Amino acid sequence: MKRIGILTAGGDTPALNATIHGAVARANQLSIEAYGFIKGYNSLYNERVPHVHLNPLYQEIPELDPTKGGTILGSSRDYVDPNDDEALSKITQKLNRLKIDGLVCIGGDGTLNGLQPLADRIPVVLAPKTIDNDLGLNYPSEPDEYIRCERHDRSGFDYRMKPSRIEFHLDHMINYVTPGYATAVFVSSQGVQRIRTTAESHRRIAIIEVMGRHSGYIALGSSYGQPDITLVPEHTLDLELLVDRVKEIYDLQKNVVIVCGEGIVDEAGRDLGDEESSTDPSGNKVLKGASEALRQLLIQKIGDDYFASYRRGNSASEAIFTRKVGHTQRGGRPILFDRFYGAQLGGKAVDLLVEGRNNAVSTIQWSAAKGFWVDSFHSNGFRDRWGHIHARKMHPSFYDSNNLKLSTVGREYLQPIFTHAIGHDDLEHQRDTTFAASSLLMPYHSVNTDMSKRICYL
Ligand code: F6P
Repeated sequence: MKRIGILTAGGDTPALNATIHGAVARANQLSIEAYGFIKGYNSLYNERVPHVHLNPLYQEIPELDPTKGGTILGSSRDYVDPNDDEALSKITQKLNRLKIDGLVCIGGDGTLNGLQPLADRIPVVLAPKTIDNDLGLNYPSEPDEYIRCERHDRSGFDYRMKPSRIEFHLDHMINYVTPGYATAVFVSSQGVQRIRTTAESHRRIAIIEVMGRHSGYIALGSSYGQPDITLVPEHTLDLELLVDRVKEIYDLQKNVVIVCGEGIVDEAGRDLGDEESSTDPSGNKVLKGASEALRQLLIQKIGDDYFASYRRGNSASEAIFTRKVGHTQRGGRPILFDRFYGAQLGGKAVDLLVEGRNNAVSTIQWSAAKGFWVDSFHSNGFRDRWGHIHARKMHPSFYDSNNLKLSTVGREYLQPIFTHAIGHDDLEHQRDTTFAASSLLMPYHSVNTDMSKRICYL
């Protein structure tokens, strides 16, 4: 293998540059040229295939800084249509003209879906990334448990899992955690801690919405911020129980902090936050208003009199407020865990290409006996029998639905990831840069400005 391509696709994460760095560092060791494609799969559809040589003379370009969030290559949610043979043939021709021997795609489940049609034409592997932590399996046979049902209006199929017969072990998870998740939880936990003091001081009920689509991992991880209640998409909302619990906590401590995943669903399984029933370009539902929908439900159920009788505000709407952690959980400097394992997965992806393991995924494995190590899994292993890759749901055992909080297993899941996730340098960096005098003097210098100077075209 003489020359490989690297691209980053889907939503950005803080660990993307670290993953590109790991791939390029390994390519340098093996004397392989690495070309980065601009804006994910979008570049491959572009007639001119904008790209950047990432390691001239087998040395990494200085713009590639693994401690910076986002991706110097840019990303998009463009996806590969497996049925568009003509476009796929054109992509292959363009990659051949560029003498690309193999492709490393850094992405999540959407990117993995796009990998298959490409893998029939050129060697291609995936290095996982997603803050949602939903690329993986709770156990290797999980995809076999999907059943599909035709929609009433015959517009297509819905897929759901039948009740599992598998005994769950943390050691059996495929891709225990994805780079990007740890930093997202670092940010969201701090958000929860910071909002708590306002809730405490003003006797309020705070509903904090975190990302994750229909996987509750970020909400679960936000337990480090010590919310009183955590709501995850994997367990339908029990409104009566929630209201009882909110009142119980509020009676005691005069404030309540609730964390909810953006993909939480009501008793009928409908998305609370599905304000617009639109989808993004890769077919995902856009989830926008879970916390606000939840707030309205609590306002109705608890009512103004409850707060007025306590003399804690005039109305329920005054007392109950929402905040989204939003894109701050997806951006900025990756913490040590993400930098280290992002780089490992990038390096492993290059090894997979060199070993001829077409269509494979580099993974992070964990066992109680060995801790973390880097391994791989064939992408077909992530597919159900109809060929679909489903976002991993948080295993139900991670959550205690009676107490509306993480369970003992959930705690056991999180601890290996987070106990040493923050490096000393992460804290030093914050101390050195947050109030640097130069920030007040100098305009922001975007890495895009420098990368543009390097872009070549076919
Ligand atoms: O998949 C990552 C993610 O951050 C989700 O958690 C979230 O729902 C979505 O992307 C937001 O996408 P966008 O940045 O395109 O609004």
